[in-house]
Amino acid sequence: MDETGTTAGPAPDANGTLMPVPAFDPADPGPPCAYARLRTEQPVVKALMPNGETGWLISRHEDVRAAFADPRLTRPLLSAWPPREDADAPPPCLPTFLEMTGEHHTRVRRAVSPLFTRRRLEFMAPRIRAMAEELIDTMVRSSGDRTGDLVAAFTEPLPLRVLCETVGLPHEDRDLYLPHTLTLLSAAGLPMEEILAALYALQDYASGLIDRKEKEGPEDGGDYVSLLLAESRREGGDLTRDDVVSFVVTMLMAGYKTNIQHTANALLALLTHPDQMRRLRDEPEGIDTAVEELLRHVPLMNAINVLVALEDFTLHGQRIRAGDAVLPVIASANRDPDAFPDPDRLDLTRSPNAHTAFGYGPHYCTGAHLTRLQLSVALRVLLEKLPDLELAEPAESLPWDESTPLRAPARLPVRW
Ligand code: HEM
Repeated sequence: MDETGTTAGPAPDANGTLMPVPAFDPADPGPPCAYARLRTEQPVVKALMPNGETGWLISRHEDVRAAFADPRLTRPLLSAWPPREDADAPPPCLPTFLEMTGEHHTRVRRAVSPLFTRRRLEFMAPRIRAMAEELIDTMVRSSGDRTGDLVAAFTEPLPLRVLCETVGLPHEDRDLYLPHTLTLLSAAGLPMEEILAALYALQDYASGLIDRKEKEGPEDGGDYVSLLLAESRREGGDLTRDDVVSFVVTMLMAGYKTNIQHTANALLALLTHPDQMRRLRDEPEGIDTAVEELLRHVPLMNAINVLVALEDFTLHGQRIRAGDAVLPVIASANRDPDAFPDPDRLDLTRSPNAHTAFGYGPHYCTGAHLTRLQLSVALRVLLEKLPDLELAEPAESLPWDESTPLRAPARLPVRW
């Protein structure tokens, strides 16, 4: 640490050494404090990523938004980035939604987005409540001393059940698809063969699921996968069967671990701000505003969104070349004092709250409303059922789960 309290490594020094992507501090749930200095002094800076590649860190709120929406920046194929030295290009995989571009992406979004609007998802609110209540009741029943672990009992199981029930994925198949999902989420640094094997395995699973749904026929076809399948069979429809396979793969990659990790971090933030948590319990009408603040405050994504420049351009005096990786840092943007007064303070009444937790522009998170709904219902149920909830161990001693680049508490020991 230097005298300003930051731990930013050097920008390229005289010897050309690059700073590493700032790492989380194990004792601090906040984003790496190095970003405060980068936002002021080096809003665009080349850094060394954990996988050995280099990328341009973008740390200011307005630049992060602009980068997500910039047509000169594209999302690279997971099966083709980082670029390989050897001449053999990997065999093609179906693109996930994130990797789709142009007219193809527009067409697929047009078919899928209406299924994920706030209004359309209202049918899930009572179901999410029932699932959340059942999980809390089970935790309480199985505890002899009014203590438990909220991660194991609540934040791990809830998001997958919600995702499965919303989109029509069989929860009972989880041992078939989750290992591949987890491989892909920690893909940085893995050999390409392993990444491809996991991608193909997920595609095969999705294709098999669609075969099953096709055989079941329309009478059982009310779920999202079946609705999209029907669209793919409609004359002049917006989707192909491959797009529906991509939908299933994308849901399993984008809609699972993010939600688990965010929910655990959000509960940690609440438990370490007990006054604000009690106020929320007494005034639950503020929960939706609180959810937005928790989305802003949790530094879930630290330089993990990789974009690649399609052409040369200059930003804040830095020449970015075609092919360079560009990393808009959501965890930094959401703490930018130019966008949020007193940005490091958790303020559950903060409004407006233009956070970038779900990205920005044409690839804005499809699951944003589902995530909001789930967190809002989960908080309501938790505060109703366990009004005296508190951490049972000091926050500083809690271990982190770092099995994917999204850091979250590995345990949340609580008493009630
Ligand atoms: C806390 C939870 C979540 C966070 C923080 C999050 C964050 C994000 C971000 C930042 C992006 C944009 C990436 C980019 O532009 O390169 C994104 C895209 C996406 N997310 Fe989420 N997400 C979450 C939950 C979910 C859930 C539950 C689902 C599914 C139901 C989902 C589905 C998607 C999809 C399909 C995309 C790609 C959209 C496209 O490319 O058109 N996400 N998410």
